[in-house]
Amino acid sequence: MEILTWHKSYNIGAADIDRQHRDIFRLINRVHQALASETTTEKTGDILTQLMTDVRGHFADEEKVMERAAYPLLPKHRQKHQELMATLKPLMARCGENGNIVATRLLAFLKDWWQKHILEDDARIGRHLRTNGTQARGAEISQR
Ligand SMILES: [Fe+2]
Ligand SMILES: [Fe+2]
Repeated sequence: MEILTWHKSYNIGAADIDRQHRDIFRLINRVHQALASETTTEKTGDILTQLMTDVRGHFADEEKVMERAAYPLLPKHRQKHQELMATLKPLMARCGENGNIVATRLLAFLKDWWQKHILEDDARIGRHLRTNGTQARGAEISQR
């Protein structure tokens, strides 16, 4: 069963960003499944590590899109990304020690964070790209 279900309202209208968001949802669901099926902590840890890598890459790409589109709320948005990473790091470390309880709490937190962040903050980037006609040159992610 999924903990986070994709819905079209999560699309912000920039294909590359939407694809990365869907991949992140998929990874969060994989962590959830690994926990539910009582797989070893080690495997859950591997998926969480992958998730951290993907999230870091996604934030870098999204911030590049905002830069190219001269998005006025970039500093505030970047700060939210940094805050999430700062929150996750100690939690990740604790997942290693005492796996599943921390990981379960972490998942609930991630679910809320991503739903809110995409619908409120990332959606605003999409609107900016559309309003300013920068979608074509601003929104595609060429390389990291
Ligand atoms: Fe974001
Ligand atoms: Fe995002």
